Amino acid sequence: MTSDYDELISLLKPHGQQHLLRFWDKLNPVQQQELGEEIRRLDIGVLTAARSGAGQDATHDLSRAVIPPAIRLQQPDRETWAQSAQHLGAEALSAGKVGCLLVAGGQGSRLGFDHPKGMFSIGPVSGASLFQILLEKIVATRDRYGAAVPLFLMTSPATDDETVAYLSEQRNFGLAEDDVHIFCQGTLPAIDAQMHKLLLAEPGHLALSPDGHGGMLEALKRSGGLDALRRRGVEHLFYFQVDNPLAQVCDPETIGAHLMAQSEYTLQVVNKRDPGERVGVVVSIDGQMRVVEYSDLPAEAAAERAPDGGLKLWAGSIAVHMFAVDFLQRMAADPQSLPLHRALKKVPYLDEQGRTVQPQQPNAIKLERFIFDLLPHAARGLVVEVDPAAAFAPVKNAPGEKIETPEYVQDYLMAQARRWLAAAGAEVAEGVRVEISPRFALDAAELATKINSGTKITRDTYFT
Ligand code: UD1
Repeated sequence: MTSDYDELISLLKPHGQQHLLRFWDKLNPVQQQELGEEIRRLDIGVLTAARSGAGQDATHDLSRAVIPPAIRLQQPDRETWAQSAQHLGAEALSAGKVGCLLVAGGQGSRLGFDHPKGMFSIGPVSGASLFQILLEKIVATRDRYGAAVPLFLMTSPATDDETVAYLSEQRNFGLAEDDVHIFCQGTLPAIDAQMHKLLLAEPGHLALSPDGHGGMLEALKRSGGLDALRRRGVEHLFYFQVDNPLAQVCDPETIGAHLMAQSEYTLQVVNKRDPGERVGVVVSIDGQMRVVEYSDLPAEAAAERAPDGGLKLWAGSIAVHMFAVDFLQRMAADPQSLPLHRALKKVPYLDEQGRTVQPQQPNAIKLERFIFDLLPHAARGLVVEVDPAAAFAPVKNAPGEKIETPEYVQDYLMAQARRWLAAAGAEVAEGVRVEISPRFALDAAELATKINSGTKITRDTYFT
């Protein structure tokens, strides 16, 4: 009978990774079992990547890149088009055909917040967390259309326990237990950049990190989420990130646009004004749509101008997507659908003597999958331009930086509240902070039914 050790060695040796068992004899049986499981769970493709240097991002010929046909904000028929789209979107919502997918694997470390980012307080008056604002949008959508909108929420190993406990304590901010499906994304190992060896973080644990939001596909399938979508008759998923409290969650116009175009993958984009904006751009190269991440976009390509003076590659992805569930199902069946991306990072590791090394320079390759790499596989894709003032204010940076700080995001939220109040005929005094809970009003039209014209708002107010 072969021992665990022998079995693991036979798995690792062909890939030159047997050093992972270097401290095996020092581990107790439970630790040995845990390490064994981590090794067995390793994706064999990653071990191959460790040796071959795969995961290298493909370069695309951006000289041939154009913007795919897009629904523009300023196009003359946008208003009439929007009405038909909204109608279709509303029908799909009322029929219970739409679900939500929220990726929330990130921690608030860049914000100096040592918890899941979704728990970060952002409401400018209420102090509501990102989770509260986003989940209340789903609750309000459910109530408006009279049909459940199930939420599939992706956590990571670092955020899972706390997120589950927080949402349970908060009773999912009003979403029924049956309508919340929390699932945890997987991990990928860090690889020594010189030697192409997988790193150990502890004698009995590999150095692992979340597998990127692209890990959503595999994790959704593994957790039974794809089956649950089918069972519930959900045909389309509205996907968004936890960092953007302005996200127009389940926006009927976007859903309708997606349906009208029979799109498999629809992206909300904003018109990039500054070449340096840190958003991926949606392009079409030789008829194939894809997102080129900002870090992969050469400065010259980013700065190129169109004849009208705007940026040639203007379509900045705000990471708000619609997916056809059929498409996700098809993609999840193909392990090759999402390539690996690599990034050189500083990753602490155990040296041969078992001492932890804190590297001063990037020493390791971290691998990730990006969900937007599904786009080239879509039979039909669609780009819909939205107004950033109404749809995009992500919190990414700590206070003190120029943009995307908590203050910047709160200013966006308050500016939107002021616009809606002004449209309802209310007067908001200078310097007063206003915030509107999604449960009070989901949009300006709803707010106008609840606020009397001429109302004067003279102190900080949370409409809830
Ligand atoms: C991301 C997009 C970028 C887009 C921008 C819009 C990537 C690689 N880039 O940039 O194209 O224009 O948002 O704001 O995504 N997450 C997980 N698990 C992971 C990694 C990320 O759940 O393993 C979640 C995070 O919680 C976060 C979101 O994905 O909500 C975005 O991740 P982040 O690494 O912050 O991407 P950005 O650089 O902001």
